[in-house]
Amino acid sequence: MVKLVVVGAGGLVGRRVISILDKDPIPGLQLYLTGHSDSIGRKMEYRGQALQITHTDLRLLRNADIVLLCTPSQASVELVQAIRGGPVIIDTSSAFRMEPGVPLVVPEVNGHEIFSHKGLISGPNCSTIQLVMTLYPILTQFGLSRVHVTTYQSVSGAGYKAISELERTSFDFITIGSTNCEESSQFPHPIAFNLIPQIDGFEANGYTREEMKMVNETRKILGIPDLPISCTCVRVPVFIGHSEACLVETKKEPCVDVIREDLNRFPGVTVLDDPVNHVYPTPVHCQDTDEVYVGRIRRDLSSDKGVLYWIVADNLRRGAATNACNIVRTLLRGEK
Ligand SMILES: NC(=O)c1ccc[n+]([C@@H]2O[C@H](COP(=O)([O-])OP(=O)(O)OC[C@H]3O[C@@H](n4cnc5c(N)ncnc54)[C@H](OP(=O)(O)O)[C@@H]3O)[C@@H](O)[C@H]2O)c1
Repeated sequence: MVKLVVVGAGGLVGRRVISILDKDPIPGLQLYLTGHSDSIGRKMEYRGQALQITHTDLRLLRNADIVLLCTPSQASVELVQAIRGGPVIIDTSSAFRMEPGVPLVVPEVNGHEIFSHKGLISGPNCSTIQLVMTLYPILTQFGLSRVHVTTYQSVSGAGYKAISELERTSFDFITIGSTNCEESSQFPHPIAFNLIPQIDGFEANGYTREEMKMVNETRKILGIPDLPISCTCVRVPVFIGHSEACLVETKKEPCVDVIREDLNRFPGVTVLDDPVNHVYPTPVHCQDTDEVYVGRIRRDLSSDKGVLYWIVADNLRRGAATNACNIVRTLLRGEK
């Protein structure tokens, strides 16, 4: 039996982890669910049983084989400090992603790094996961010389309270024609019918922390510390699903047909690219799926070696829960 504790089981990511393990079970897994406040006592359906979310008891965590943290960064820091050296910890938060010696893993891209862990493995930012899954096949075939991305990120990327806020502010906007900005606790501006070019705080270089996460995490996962990459991250009034407009410049002359085939062959990536017939990915179509969808693949008109494309993925599943479950599966399979 493998004892797995999912901490933050009642949150957006935690709930997806349970649903994924319920539909595609890991043999011999004994699952425990814990939380912090709102979710305590809630029952979650798993393999025909109703598992209850309990308080996060450090003894339970220390006695587990694997602890999967689906918690905010500060909680992850405190929990890792308390249990490090015991179970293998997989953390979905940003707390340890850039710590030297902590593997930052998308199994389809750098899964082998899982086996160099020293008790702690990080899952990347949701926007980073879908980006690197499309960059890696292009890197392998043509090399990468520059990447520029603009993201359109759904509110669920900010946790379950942000979903309620989009519902509330949309309702206000439709019924009374405005929304009370001061009540917007999750975002710096009202999110309903709006776009906010700020996710997380700003750094001294004028980029947000979310943008710098994408830059630094992409470089770490691809193993190219000096990859020229920059991005603009925008919060949009979509419930689930992050979209990204990418411009990629390659070292060798790129071929759009080869890129399309390579992307479609890559595990976890599906090409939906028939724009004349309105076939391209959108967040609504990608919700509740595990794939990264790519469309609008075309040559850049402003540079010789540039390719543009559009990617969409369910940030809660592919961008967090699916990736974390794939790390657990790879770890248990033990393949290097
Ligand atoms: N949302 C995404 O698209 C996404 C993608 C990639 C990574 N992530 C990362 O994944 C983590 C979870 O995100 P989320 O969207 O699921 O957030 P969420 O919906 O806000 O859920 C967070 C959960 O953490 C629990 N929690 C908070 N403090 C805790 C503590 N001290 N001990 C135990 N449990 C605690 C909460 O429990 P209660 O409900 O009981 O209070 C809640 O269920 C975050 O670090 C986030 O940055 C999220």
